[in-house]
Amino acid sequence: MKSSKLLVLASVVIAGLSVAGFVALPLDKPVPRSLGSVEGDIQRGAYVARLSACITCHTDTRNGGQVLAGGAPIKTPFGTFHAPNITPDKEFGIGNWTLEDFARALTHGESPGGRPYYPAFPYAFFERMTDRDIADLWAAVNSVPPVNKPAPPHDIAFPLSTDVAPAVWQRLFFAPPDEARDGGGANPMDRGAYLAGGPAHCGACHTPRNLLGARDTERRFAGGTASDGEKAPAITADALRQAGWTKKNLIYALRTGLMPDGDSFSGSMARVVNGGTRFWTDGDLDAVATYLFAEKQE
Ligand code: HEC
Ligand code: HEC
Repeated sequence: MKSSKLLVLASVVIAGLSVAGFVALPLDKPVPRSLGSVEGDIQRGAYVARLSACITCHTDTRNGGQVLAGGAPIKTPFGTFHAPNITPDKEFGIGNWTLEDFARALTHGESPGGRPYYPAFPYAFFERMTDRDIADLWAAVNSVPPVNKPAPPHDIAFPLSTDVAPAVWQRLFFAPPDEARDGGGANPMDRGAYLAGGPAHCGACHTPRNLLGARDTERRFAGGTASDGEKAPAITADALRQAGWTKKNLIYALRTGLMPDGDSFSGSMARVVNGGTRFWTDGDLDAVATYLFAEKQE
């Protein structure tokens, strides 16, 4: 479907639902959990940032942008998004936020003032993150130099540009957690499930989406679209085997960016490797590969 048609369709649905009062209904979101007692570790947080690609999206590396000061444009059928400045700058970053505000953004998709975020920010995956991961990330985010400059605004057409659009999306497709998660521990299957379905959000690009941009969870990892309409192939266990992947060459590819046929990953997968999986521990790479090649995934 052409993206202009998609835009019209999404707009009509949103207009219809707002007229129907659907968005005005209070959303039964559980209260964000309290993280007051968790002490963050900067080193570990820097690693969690590598697991979850915060730096990849929030830094405009290609144009020499400062770390976490705002990302390169993310083109979607709904418009162009810019990941904001999340340095500790008090004016243009998140320097006035508390750890609770940060946790609410990541797990509930809401700003401190209650604005619903667009799903271009993958909180639908980050909602799984453990309290420990969030507190460590917070420590790491606060350790980067503040950058006193705003990121460019999003470029989205009306009515998708209003808060109603992400509010409708959340109501239809997003259920934040009501309890803390665990990070999978030492069991590779559990750890792999946590990484792929949580911080590393492999499904954000590799799972197909419906017309309103929601993932088709019945067809997880069956192939989807990354930014700019770029195709992300299927990475189900069957598809991987058919394409010549083994656990070993998958781990190698996620470490080096080199595929079994000698080509390197291109486009957004190259960025996933360069800003993320390249830095993962052997244990975490093994966990994700174990999970993806498993016959039965939870
Ligand atoms: C795929 C790209 C992408 C990734 C990965 C990503 N973000 Fe974002 N993030 C965004 C976009 C886009 C927005 C803006 C959403 C909006 O305006 O509705 C955003 C918004 C935010 C905000 C809200 C900032 C504000 O000023 O309100 C915070 C905080 C944030 N991200 C933190 C993180 C952290 C921490 C990580 C890693 C765990 C991360 N993001 C990973 C794209 C991304
Ligand atoms: C931002 C979008 C995005 C994310 C997130 C992402 N991928 Fe990819 N992936 C792609 C794209 C696009 C390609 C195709 C790249 C190419 O052909 O060079 C790809 C290709 C691949 C391939 C090669 C498949 C084949 O048969 O050619 C594998 C394996 C893979 N990704 C695994 C993963 C894993 C594991 C994760 C999570 C850790 C992940 N990807 C996260 C976009 C993404």
